[in-house]
Formats: sequence, structure tokens, C-alpha cells
Amino acid sequence: MGSLHVDQVTVEFPLGPNTPPVKALSNVQLEIQQGEFVVALGASGCGKSTLLNLLAGFLSPSTGQIKLNGNIVAGPGADRAVVFQKHALLPWLNVIDNVAFGLKLRGIGKSERHEIARKHLKQLGLEAFETHPVYQLSGGMQQRVGIARALASDPEILLMDEPLGALDALTREKAQELIIRIWKESSKMVFFITHSVEEALFMGTRLIVMSPRPGRITHTFDLDFSKKFLAGADARAVKASPEFIGMREQVLKIIFGDEEASGGDHV
Ligand SMILES: Nc1ncnc2c1ncn2[C@@H]1O[C@H](COP(=O)(O)OP(=O)(O)OP(=O)(O)O)[C@@H](O)[C@H]1O
Ligand SMILES: [Mg+2]
Repeated sequence: MGSLHVDQVTVEFPLGPNTPPVKALSNVQLEIQQGEFVVALGASGCGKSTLLNLLAGFLSPSTGQIKLNGNIVAGPGADRAVVFQKHALLPWLNVIDNVAFGLKLRGIGKSERHEIARKHLKQLGLEAFETHPVYQLSGGMQQRVGIARALASDPEILLMDEPLGALDALTREKAQELIIRIWKESSKMVFFITHSVEEALFMGTRLIVMSPRPGRITHTFDLDFSKKFLAGADARAVKASPEFIGMREQVLKIIFGDEEASGGDHV
């Protein structure tokens, strides 16, 4: 069974010879097991993206280590796929070739990679758009193409940095439901960053709340709201339930408290 271990990780960014380094993360300890959907919340600048970039292998920890399935993460790899807030699609390729791009780089032939890409486009409700240029799609559709591309490489873990942050409220709620359904089908590990407490509570199986810089995990909550949704409950009814609202207020209090304590440091 797959697992990811973040062991006592600290990150310092050097700022130059006469300036002390920025301590972005301090002693972060995190374990994700296959099938878990871990959501990270925290004030702006607390180190959420830094943590995701470490998991992706774009950055190396200053101290500590990260292991995926027992192997130390030492750089980017096909076992991890990243989805950012702004899609990173290639404008000169159509939808299906964007989804199949990573597979092409891995030397997979055209008919096989298109077959894999088609499966994921169907999963995301985009099968009718495979030959469209990406600029003809709406923001929500482009974001779904980015998710299809991430899934096409069949990663162990999906790393998502505010993937729904740029969408309007209705599209965002629909995308949340779609991602939860796909996650359940694939049973992959997910690490998902958001600024929305409601989104975090609804989507995750576990929530981590990070403190302002240097980022540490200060609170962890086990969640079962997505389970209720997957068992057939209406998404809005789940979000309007007293348990959900109670937890939302509890988490908001922590985050607002942190923001005030840090003096509103939004570096
Ligand atoms: N390459 C870098 N060099 C120097 N400082 C950096 C670098 N990358 C990030 N930082 C600093 O590290 C801290 C954490 O940044 P990070 O982007 O991880 O925050 P975040 O929690 O993702 O914030 P947001 O919610 O605004 O996206 C910030 O203070 C940021 O200025
Ligand atoms: Mg960020």
C-alpha cells in the first residue's frame, strides 16, 4: 500500500550574504496513506506551497526527509502529479494532446496514449472536446483538462495547489464533487491546498492547519463529510449541517487567531 512520509522537514530560503534566511517551514511531520485525501489550510505565506513543492520534488528540504513508498524524494517524478491554481496547459496543443503530453515524453505511442487520455477525459466529462484547442474552453474546463492530464500519468499521489481557486462559486462546487468522486474511484493519495475552509472540510479525509511563518502543523482534524456525500447525501445539505457549520467556525477561529497573532504578515 502506498504511503508518503514527511519526516522533521525544515525549509530555509537564503536571501543573500547579509540577510538572515527566511524560515518557511519548521519541523513538519506528516504521513499520508493510500486512499487519504489530506487538505492543508493556513494563512497566506505560511508555507503551504513550499510543502507541496517539496512533495513534488521541485524543492529540497534544508533538514529532514520525504519518502514516497519508502524511496527518498530527490526530484520530480512520474509518481507525483501536480495541479496548480492556473492551469499549465500547452496552448498550441489540442485537449487530448495536452492530456497525453506526459505520456508522450515517456515514449508511449500515439494510439496508446490517446486511449489513456480519452479514458480520463471521459471521467472528467470532456470527451466531446478532445480535438478543441484549449483556449476555446472555459476556465473550469481548462482546469479539468489539467486534472485529466495529472491522472493520465497514473501517479501515486496528486498534489493540488488551490486548483479551484480561480473558479466561480457554482463551477467550484461542481468541481469539488467531481474530484471527490474521481479520488474515491482511484483511491490515490491526495494533498490539496485551499484557502476555503468550507472546501477543505467538504473534500478532505484529514485537515491540517498550518501556523504562520515558520509554517508548522498545529492542528489536525479527521473528517467524514466527503464520505457522507459519497454515500448519497446532497453536497449542500452536508455543508449546511450543524456538524459542518460547527467545525467550520472552529477552524475559522484558529485561522483568524493565527492571522492576528502574526500581525497580518502576508509576505
Ligand atoms: N524561493 C523563495 N525564496 C525566498 N522566500 C520564499 C521563496 N518561496 C517562498 N518564500 C517565502 O516562504 C514563505 C512561504 O511561502 P509559500 O508560497 O509556501 O506560502 P503559502 O502558504 O503557499 O501562501 P499563499 O497562501 O499565499 O499561497 C513566504 O514567506 C514566502 O515569501
Ligand atoms: Mg501558496
